[in-house]
Amino acid sequence: MSFTPFDPLSFKNTKVNDAALGALKREIENILSSYVGWYDPFCELIQNALDAVEARAEYEKSAGTEELYRPQIEIRIDLDDNALTVTDNGIGLDKEKFEQFLAPNFSFKTGNTRGHKGVGATYVAYGFNYIRVSTKVPGFEASGRILNAKNWLKSHTTGTNPKVEPDESPRVDGAFDKNDRGVAVTVRFDETTHPKRLDWVGAQR
Ligand SMILES: Nc1ncnc2c1ncn2[C@@H]1O[C@H](COP(=O)(O)OP(=O)(O)OP(=O)(O)O)[C@@H](O)[C@H]1O
Ligand SMILES: [Mg+2]
Repeated sequence: MSFTPFDPLSFKNTKVNDAALGALKREIENILSSYVGWYDPFCELIQNALDAVEARAEYEKSAGTEELYRPQIEIRIDLDDNALTVTDNGIGLDKEKFEQFLAPNFSFKTGNTRGHKGVGATYVAYGFNYIRVSTKVPGFEASGRILNAKNWLKSHTTGTNPKVEPDESPRVDGAFDKNDRGVAVTVRFDETTHPKRLDWVGAQR
C-alpha cells in the first residue's frame, strides 16, 4: 500500500515559523543527548517490540483467540549492510500512529509497559540517517523510510524537514512477510552515528 510522503513532525506545528522549528530541533537534540550507549538502538527497538507483542496478546485474549497467537520477535544484524532490523508480530501501527509515532513525546502506551516516554522511536528516527518502518494491521499496510534525518538535525540551515517516503523494496524482511500483523524497523549505521559499525564488537560474518 503506497502513501503520499509525509513529515512525521507535522503534528508539532513546525510550519509556524523558524523559531518553532528551532525549538523542535532542540527538543529532538535533547532526546538524542540522553542516549549515549552502544546498545541503545537495540534496547529501544526490542522494548517496543516486546510491548507490541504483549499488547497483541492482551487484544487476542479479549477477542478469545489467545490460543492461536504465538508472540515472535526477530532481531537481525546485517554486518554487510551495517544495519539492525527488529521485527515483531505484535499489535502493529495503524495509519494514524504510523504518521505520528516518530514525533517527540508521542506515546500511545498506557498501563504496564516498558516504554512510556514517547522518545525511543524519535531517537531511532532522528539519531541515524536511515530508518525504515513497515507495518501491517487489518486494513492498513505500509512501508516507509526516512533518509538523512540526523544530518538534517545537525545542519543549521532551514531546509525542508525529512519525510517518510514509501519504500518500494519488494520484500522488507522475511520475518515481516510471514507475519500476519506487526512491525519491522531497520536502522542503518554510518560514520556519523553511534554505533558506527556493527562489526566493531568482533562479530564475524
Ligand atoms: N514495534 C511497535 N509496534 C507497535 N507500536 C509501536 C512499535 N514501536 C513503537 N510503537 C508505538 O509508537 C509509540 C512511540 O514509540 P516510542 O518508543 O517513541 O515511545 P514509548 O515506547 O511509548 O516510550 P519510550 O520513549 O519510553 O520508549 C509507542 O507508544 C507505540 O504506541
Ligand atoms: Mg519505546
